[in-house]
Amino acid sequence: MTSQETKRIKTGIIGLDEMLDGGIPEGSVVLVTGGAGCGKTTFSCQFVNHGLKEGSNSLYITLEEKPEEIKENAKQFGWDLNKYEKDGTFRIVYYDPFELGEIIQRMTDLIVVNKIQRLVIDSISLFGLYLDNSYKIRKELYKLVEALKQTGCTSILLSEIPENTKQLSRYGVEEFVADGVIVLYYMSLGNGAFRNIEVRKMRRTNHKNGTYPLTITKTGIKVDMNEDMF
Ligand SMILES: Nc1ncnc2c1ncn2[C@@H]1O[C@H](COP(=O)(O)OP(=O)(O)O)[C@@H](O)[C@H]1O
Ligand SMILES: [Mg+2]
Repeated sequence: MTSQETKRIKTGIIGLDEMLDGGIPEGSVVLVTGGAGCGKTTFSCQFVNHGLKEGSNSLYITLEEKPEEIKENAKQFGWDLNKYEKDGTFRIVYYDPFELGEIIQRMTDLIVVNKIQRLVIDSISLFGLYLDNSYKIRKELYKLVEALKQTGCTSILLSEIPENTKQLSRYGVEEFVADGVIVLYYMSLGNGAFRNIEVRKMRRTNHKNGTYPLTITKTGIKVDMNEDMF
């Protein structure tokens, strides 16, 4: 398929969909990575809310914050996830990261039964709490990504990386197995802060290269596409 023929799933983030030549290729598993407070959860809520507005069934798996906190946080941007939960198109599920035994099976069952088109896992970094060595973590992550690709839904996997690292992901394998990698950067400067975004990888996509300024406003995230940083 050419870039044009691939069905694209819009993130709903102004500027980013243009960077992605229209959006994420349908069925992709995309890693969104960055340090604490970079905007990963906000990014995901915006992605899910945009899909719900268009009538796409969506599932949000949270291993960190409680569902109520995520929904409260989304509400401040004007995204009423409760409304979609009531009408049955949105589900938000909390998994205890210490009890992740059957997580892949449980997740794929939920995706199939509920005909989920957009999925978020917030965040896969918590897998490390449950698995005791990096070999097992990598094996499980690989299995997870393969299982998600089989379902056909478009997935965003969040990954928190330590500050000041050159690593793209926590465990060093996610970027190879995922179809796409989007990196969020946060730089504090004096009393202010700069946020940037970069599409490091997106299969089947003629995406923009380089970092672009990102801002979080009261209506969500937006990317200034006209201002390449370098
Ligand atoms: N209404 C808002 N306007 C501007 N910035 C905001 C707003 N709400 C949250 N933020 C910023 O977003 C950050 C939290 O982003 P979040 O998506 O939770 O990050 P992550 O999940 O990567 O830790 C906050 O620390 C704050 O800087
Ligand atoms: Mg978060």
